Amino acid sequence: MGIFITFEGPEGSGKSTQCRLLAEHLQSLGRPVWLTREPGGTEISQQVRHILMDLKNKSMYPATEFLLFSAARAQLVREVIRPHLDKGEIVICDRYRDSSLAYQGYGHGLPLDTIRAVSAFATDALAPDLTLLLDIDPERGIQRKQAHNAEWNRMDDYALAYHRRVRQGFLALAAAEPGRWRVLNADKPVEELQEEVRAVVMEAVRD
Ligand code: TYD
Repeated sequence: MGIFITFEGPEGSGKSTQCRLLAEHLQSLGRPVWLTREPGGTEISQQVRHILMDLKNKSMYPATEFLLFSAARAQLVREVIRPHLDKGEIVICDRYRDSSLAYQGYGHGLPLDTIRAVSAFATDALAPDLTLLLDIDPERGIQRKQAHNAEWNRMDDYALAYHRRVRQGFLALAAAEPGRWRVLNADKPVEELQEEVRAVVMEAVRD
């Protein structure tokens, strides 16, 4: 069994860059790594992502949103994550089911226990070994996202108050399960943050 590492955080925390740099670093050390992301990572999950991110789908209900994220996740776990873990690889996933707790639970107010139960079913109860929260004030994160001309999707379009609830949600989740989570302040240069990410991850993959 390999090691399953997930990255979480609000918009513009630089997760995707940090995931990529970490994967390259581990590969350079000769460790087998598989990098993937949510929603996406498989052909079918990518099609679901399209529906979720489309700015035209303004009338989507939170329940629909949650079930679509869960559907994309169910496919990704079975098609990609579990098989790579079974081969003994390190799997890095850019977002996982904690994003549903933060965005659909804390953000939209869907009941957390329902999200936990459906997520356990969708993922066949596969929990990450380590989760890094790249924490940033949502206002700063959204500025950073706009400055980098990143894709602006339907989720980004929710109000700032929504994104503040999401951030508080992530912090609450991390505080409730300190054994699995590490919280890093993401409002700093890419290289500096990457040093911290590597330090945390090397500790976990050493044994
Ligand atoms: P993406 O462009 O991948 O953004 P990021 O780089 O921030 O991950 O968009 C994914 C969006 O979907 C992001 O706004 C977070 C949101 N999301 C949820 O609301 N619930 C979920 O379960 C997941 C996985 C993502």
